[in-house]
Amino acid sequence: MQNLAIIGLQWGDEGKGKIIDCLARDYDYIVRFQGGNNAGHTVFVSNKEFIFHLIPSGCLYKDKHCVIGNGVAVNPAILLDEIENLEREGIELNLHISYRCHLIMPYHIAIDEIREKTQKIGTTKRGIGPCYTDKVARCGIVIADMLDRNVFKEKVRENLNQKSLDSLFNPDKIVDEYLAYFDKIKDFVCDTRVLLEDAILKRKSILFEGAQGTLLDIDFGTYPYVTSTNPTIGGIGTGTGIPPRYIENVIGVMKAYSTRVGEGPFPTEIKKDLGESLREKGREYGATTGRPRRCGWLDLPAIRYSCKINGITSIAITKLDVLDCLSKIMVCTKYKIKGKIYGEIPQEITSWDDIEPIYEEFPGWEMDIGNIKEYDNLPKEARNYIEMIKDALSIPISLVSVGKERNQNIEVI
Ligand code: IMP
Repeated sequence: MQNLAIIGLQWGDEGKGKIIDCLARDYDYIVRFQGGNNAGHTVFVSNKEFIFHLIPSGCLYKDKHCVIGNGVAVNPAILLDEIENLEREGIELNLHISYRCHLIMPYHIAIDEIREKTQKIGTTKRGIGPCYTDKVARCGIVIADMLDRNVFKEKVRENLNQKSLDSLFNPDKIVDEYLAYFDKIKDFVCDTRVLLEDAILKRKSILFEGAQGTLLDIDFGTYPYVTSTNPTIGGIGTGTGIPPRYIENVIGVMKAYSTRVGEGPFPTEIKKDLGESLREKGREYGATTGRPRRCGWLDLPAIRYSCKINGITSIAITKLDVLDCLSKIMVCTKYKIKGKIYGEIPQEITSWDDIEPIYEEFPGWEMDIGNIKEYDNLPKEARNYIEMIKDALSIPISLVSVGKERNQNIEVI
């Protein structure tokens, strides 16, 4: 069995959780490699909703090893809460957390809140940016630091001092609180790189679970309206220690339309009533923050760009059923920027506002497709829409999701 990465091709919330959940059954290890509890992967099983922020969503299957790699920022309070909730549901966890995960500290959350007042990125306010800022500034604190109370305490004290926050936070209180969490999670903590290396040697199969999406990537996204990690394929190497040559397949997950939550460029945004009706039909509210997501038409230049960055080998289209009621569907096929035509996001862009989407109109199918199980039974217009995406990207479509339940999937052969 070859290893697989599942990557979001838009601004996150593409429905990766559902696709991961469907495919996880065939893999031995499910691995998160970046981000933190800014992510929210929603999975419905028998009408029950599970939302995962840190634990890989593949954990709903028995006997899977779920791994939180070193690239993930961990808020131990959230992690513990998630572990306890799953255990209450009777789910046996086979969880492995890297010693090298950076810790989200209470002051990171406070700094995120304060920065948002002026910077207005529309972050999830979970402390993600400030945590990764400390990582890069070489003053971050990792899980392994909690193995030694004195080392941990000194680092907390130093951070509060450097940030002039000593009057707001009590280091002893933070240390006691975090060590109490550590005590409850320590059995899960290990060298996840060695664990995965061993899995590869034993020819076990690995599924790498991306959080967020390519257009939120710190290097390749719509900077500065991005998250602080690499949700793209390159993040797997740095976030797990597994060399890229072990990732044979890369599925790109894209919604049949576009959404984004938070501030930032969104060339195909629909601002009027139609945007709102897509939001209601698609239940487009953030799984982490509950914020309403901005909705828009499919943006092929952005997705084409995302596919190239990640070396996508096949595509899963989600939420096709949300378009059921539309008589016509617009798709942005190219961008016009200062009179020049582009087929993907150009790097020389100075202002995202300069993008003029060029649209093509496609007929809708105006019927409920939620119960269709075979590709050939989809209405002609829906098949045309899927074929149009395949042709525009020159990448095969492997799966189309037409509803929130595990069985509402259509394999495309
Ligand atoms: P942060 O990751 O909390 O710093 O937020 C930075 C940007 O990424 C904001 O626009 C967030 O709304 C967005 N973002 C972060 N995580 C997710 C996610 O899981 N889905 C969608 N957007 C996200």
